Amino acid sequence: MSTHDLASIAKAMVAPGRGILAADESTGTIEKRFKGIGVECTEEIRRAYRDMLFTTRGLGEFISGVILYDETLRQKSADGTAFSDLLAKDDILPGIKVDAGAKDMALCPEEKITEGLDGLAKRCAEYVKLGAKFAKWRAVITIGRDIPSAACIAANAHALARYAAICQGAGLVPIVEPEVLMDGGHSIDRCEEVTECTLRETFAALASQRVVLEHMVLKPSMVISGKDCAKQAGVQEVAVRTLQTLRRTVPAAVPGIAFLSGGQSDQLATAHLDAMNKIGGAPWALSFSYGRALQQPALKSWKGSAGNVPAAQRALHHRARMNGLASLGQYRADLEKELGRAA
Ligand code: 13P
Repeated sequence: MSTHDLASIAKAMVAPGRGILAADESTGTIEKRFKGIGVECTEEIRRAYRDMLFTTRGLGEFISGVILYDETLRQKSADGTAFSDLLAKDDILPGIKVDAGAKDMALCPEEKITEGLDGLAKRCAEYVKLGAKFAKWRAVITIGRDIPSAACIAANAHALARYAAICQGAGLVPIVEPEVLMDGGHSIDRCEEVTECTLRETFAALASQRVVLEHMVLKPSMVISGKDCAKQAGVQEVAVRTLQTLRRTVPAAVPGIAFLSGGQSDQLATAHLDAMNKIGGAPWALSFSYGRALQQPALKSWKGSAGNVPAAQRALHHRARMNGLASLGQYRADLEKELGRAA
């Protein structure tokens, strides 16, 4: 793959009006989600669920790429088409989660380090053969009493940068995801401080590992109040402070920023993205790479039953459409009902 291809893939991932569907839950995580709707977690049911998502008609209008899990990249739709081919037919780029999960970090109590660098170049080469165009690696930064530690931020930044370099070497666009968790009672000020420090370290590490900024997409969390904080910042404040933090830390050469939803409600995640795009003037495209905020309503409608597939697909299509509008700064809360009914 030429470097020109990596640049155009990165741009396509954050094209105006489109964003990414994160459907790369590991088996353990999707099991938790299925438990929430009382559905058993077998390989076939996981396949059927992803089949429901990916065969949603018109998804490609709002979705530029889908992040898959290893198992899913090897699975097929009910008619025998490989998921990667099915998505490609709808002009959706198939991507792959390549990290091996966030594990307890030695000597850093309550903190996580993401594993998966060993053998990564070889796995990336196989994923390219299977049709993947981009990859994802998630680092987790926890806010708490005396944490995050400098050791945790540095180790995760280094791992993200090594991962990104390996992906670019193998012909995959890396999504670089340093997630500052919203769990906890911390203020938005504290979230801003930790996010700024994390992004600064991440971009320093990316530079030292020679990662080409034009060939990557950043997937950060938003600057937001901790989930249990008594004072919850409003939509405009989240938008202003997130943009301010990103402007301080993310070089303009990065083509796009695709946020994670991190446990925000689906409509709030849309409203925050929209508010940032309404402010406008950012040097990078501002888009979404949502997991829960795109899938939750569909998962609830589906409940594991084939008869519910059309309703679940309508729910997914609607959220994708709302976020597509938010990526253009054209979302309005009243469209939720109006277009939701029509969907
Ligand atoms: P959420 O949007 O549910 O946070 O998931 C995005 C993701 O891919 C996390 O790695």
